[in-house]
Amino acid sequence: MTRSIAFASLKGGVGKTTVALNCAFAFARRGARTLLVDTDPQGAIGMSLDGVGDRAGLAANLARGGPPLEGLVKTRLPELCLLPMGVVDALDEDRFAVAARDANILGRILEHSQRDFDLVLFDTPAGLGGMSRLALEEVDSVIAVAQCEPLALRALPRLLELLAKLREIGSACALLGVVGTMSSFRDPVLLASLEELWSLYRDQVFDTAIPRDGTFLQASRAGVPLGLLSRRPPAVAAVFDKLVAEIEERLGPAEGGGDNDGPIRLVD
Ligand SMILES: Nc1ncnc2c1ncn2[C@@H]1O[C@H](COP(=O)(O)OP(=O)(O)O)[C@@H](O)[C@H]1O
Ligand SMILES: [Mg+2]
Repeated sequence: MTRSIAFASLKGGVGKTTVALNCAFAFARRGARTLLVDTDPQGAIGMSLDGVGDRAGLAANLARGGPPLEGLVKTRLPELCLLPMGVVDALDEDRFAVAARDANILGRILEHSQRDFDLVLFDTPAGLGGMSRLALEEVDSVIAVAQCEPLALRALPRLLELLAKLREIGSACALLGVVGTMSSFRDPVLLASLEELWSLYRDQVFDTAIPRDGTFLQASRAGVPLGLLSRRPPAVAAVFDKLVAEIEERLGPAEGGGDNDGPIRLVD
């Protein structure tokens, strides 16, 4: 069964796209056949990755009404594919989510991903309406992205309430966990925010928090995931390996995948 996860937050600029992209890379590196779908009409993934910004994707597929996975972008990792948003005319942004709902484009993307992908990750725009709401309704799991700063923490309950309401009316959207981003042990306010996140949402918060680090700006300047910033990736790239290992544990074993998943001998 293909698992689907949305990365979501009410607030913008909290690191959703960064976390979604680097997690997709880390999942693929662990061998999961991963599809990263951009559901942000502003095309956040295309903006973040060199060589993707001018590609067509979800928006064109919606307009054409044809196959939902046309324009899939292959990457250097055989296990990782991207479905970028492509260009949405600024005048059409309001109508976009309505058209996407009418066409059930996200549901169809998931249906068509069943054969070739183990995991479909949705990056979502800020806010809880529009495309974010659609993605939350379609996925089986949600990761709440919370920047370690006071305002972002105050916005978190709204997302959790929405998820509870959506589950009441029949959506799956289980909260897989909350990931703290842009944390720092050196800045007292950021540290206090991380502690607050811990104390308020103890069971949901992933042990791995994403530190605030200048390397992220270098990676977005270069248009690459952190793991491809150089041949010897920076230390901070490794946090995503830790985070996806935690996510996998919370997802539980894949169907039929647990049989021969014991220790592997180092020496034969
Ligand atoms: N851990 C981090 N440390 C430093 N800068 C970060 C970090 N995560 C994201 N950023 C930067 O913050 C900005 C917003 O991140 P982004 O992932 O686009 O947020 P969102 O998708 O929630 O709007 C980008 O410029 C990104 O490079
Ligand atoms: Mg984004």
